[in-house]
Amino acid sequence: AIYKATVTAPVNIATLKYWGKRDVALNLPTNSSISVTLSQNDLRTTTTASASLLYTEDELYLNGSKEDVSSKRIQTLFRELRALRKAEEDKQTGSLVPLSKYYLRIVSENNFPTAAGLASSAAGFAALVKAVAELYQLPQSNEELSILARQGSGSACRSLFGGYVAWEMGSKADGSDSKAVQIAPYEHWPEMKAAILVVSAERKDTPSTSGMQLTVKTSSLFKERVNSVVPQRFEQMKKSILEKDFETFAHLTMADSNQFHATCLDSYPPIFYLNDVSRAAIRLVEDINKVAGEVVAAYTFDAGPNAVIYYLAQNEQLVLGPLRAALKNLPAWKEESHSHIQELMSDDFDKRWVNTLHSGIERIILTGVGQGPQLSTNS
Ligand code: DP6
Repeated sequence: AIYKATVTAPVNIATLKYWGKRDVALNLPTNSSISVTLSQNDLRTTTTASASLLYTEDELYLNGSKEDVSSKRIQTLFRELRALRKAEEDKQTGSLVPLSKYYLRIVSENNFPTAAGLASSAAGFAALVKAVAELYQLPQSNEELSILARQGSGSACRSLFGGYVAWEMGSKADGSDSKAVQIAPYEHWPEMKAAILVVSAERKDTPSTSGMQLTVKTSSLFKERVNSVVPQRFEQMKKSILEKDFETFAHLTMADSNQFHATCLDSYPPIFYLNDVSRAAIRLVEDINKVAGEVVAAYTFDAGPNAVIYYLAQNEQLVLGPLRAALKNLPAWKEESHSHIQELMSDDFDKRWVNTLHSGIERIILTGVGQGPQLSTNS
């Protein structure tokens, strides 16, 4: 027999960034972070976990190609998940199939092109943990599972929940209190939308794991950020989400992205994730807000040049209209989402940004806040 479970898990994009580890092996962060979970209608990882006596080794397939399972991160997850299953088998002596002794096969697919340059590790590790937990019928809550996902990739812990999510850094050395919690579900503020501007990049950026270690070691601005800025910002951003105060949420989101990238520049040797196209996107968002006469859009950037622009559904025209020029002739990944965008390019906009954006953006993904991991089938 082959026992299996299939789940989907979402991508999340941080609005208060995780950057820095206090424990590299356990992925324990130097600060708490906050993210918005994005809709799985647009971006998702689908993972099937199966276990069988017929299998002769643990295997992992990502988008059709066989991956190495010997990495420490994968080994840790397999070992910990098996230990949890073993505990259930011991509790219910003899009545459970001894799946903890069988080899595992994990088959994982992203519905978005890897070439899009979107960090897929968060959705990937969240889906892996959730799929095996489902296969093993584990009683652990999503908060408890987030502690496992965190060990695969820090940001993955936040993909265990939908809506608005906090990763509480915790203080224990074993990481047992460094977990994701939901600030508010999707239904609390479903109007939040996100436009992802996928920027063409010539070469691979510094990987986040090594980038953040360099920042921790060499940046003095980083110490200021972690000790004096993030603790207040974390509370303020949570409050802005609970109160659905977009303006405050937007200010904090942009300030935090800027400060994260400032600590990268303050590292030695310096790390550059933003490029000219990223900076043009920042200027465009500033112009959009100026023309609107209020803050209707907020940008944020992860460890790469792609811009994520958050805005509310009611302001879609104000935000996407000015992007129309940049959208034109792009190999849009979700063509149908663009069709209703009207011409709204007023003369108030500085066309310099638009030209840079037009030549530097590969595609635009229109999405928004979404739900947490979903169970698709089980047998
Ligand atoms: C800039 O979660 O990819 O996206 O824990 O080493 O796997 P590891 O790092 P990762 O770092 C994400 C960094 C970030 C900010 C964020 O998502 O909070």
